[in-house]
Amino acid sequence: MPAVFQVFYVSRATTAFDNASIQSILQVSRSNNARLRVTGCLLFSGHCFAQLLEGAQPVVTALARKIAADPRHVGVRFLSEAHSAERDYADWAMGYLHDLNLEDDLETLLMIPDRSPVVIADVMERMRPDPVMGALR
Ligand SMILES: Cc1cc2nc3c(=O)[nH]c(=O)nc-3n(C[C@H](O)[C@H](O)[C@H](O)COP(=O)(O)O)c2cc1C
Repeated sequence: MPAVFQVFYVSRATTAFDNASIQSILQVSRSNNARLRVTGCLLFSGHCFAQLLEGAQPVVTALARKIAADPRHVGVRFLSEAHSAERDYADWAMGYLHDLNLEDDLETLLMIPDRSPVVIADVMERMRPDPVMGALR
């Protein structure tokens, strides 16, 4: 069984997020994730989040459950779970991408009852950490 477990979810922000509130999530995430040997990427599109978490399966599962219970977002919908030989975000305790263009895709993934593999794959493909916000990695 490949060593890396990856989960991907989308969710809806419950409050208006400014740069400072995103930074405070990233700061805590990067410190915790480095300790847990978890890597990944967070995407914020204005009202929605998408996040990919990767690492050892029990660690990722427990962290994903903790994040899903965070009141700063709701409607957390897990859309993909996969085992992989390698990490996609090996250098990122938590990369970050702010992309308003992905809002419609995330709304689609949150709202339609069926999983939409093409949209999921497209969003995951476009989750490339922003090098500037990544300066804090
Ligand atoms: C969209 C979103 C993504 C988050 N991602 C992470 C993460 O990758 N790692 C993490 O430790 N906490 C993450 N958090 C924060 C957790 O929900 C929780 O507040 C934090 O882990 C608590 O840290 P502490 O136990 O060190 O106080 C995220 C929160 C939100 C709203």
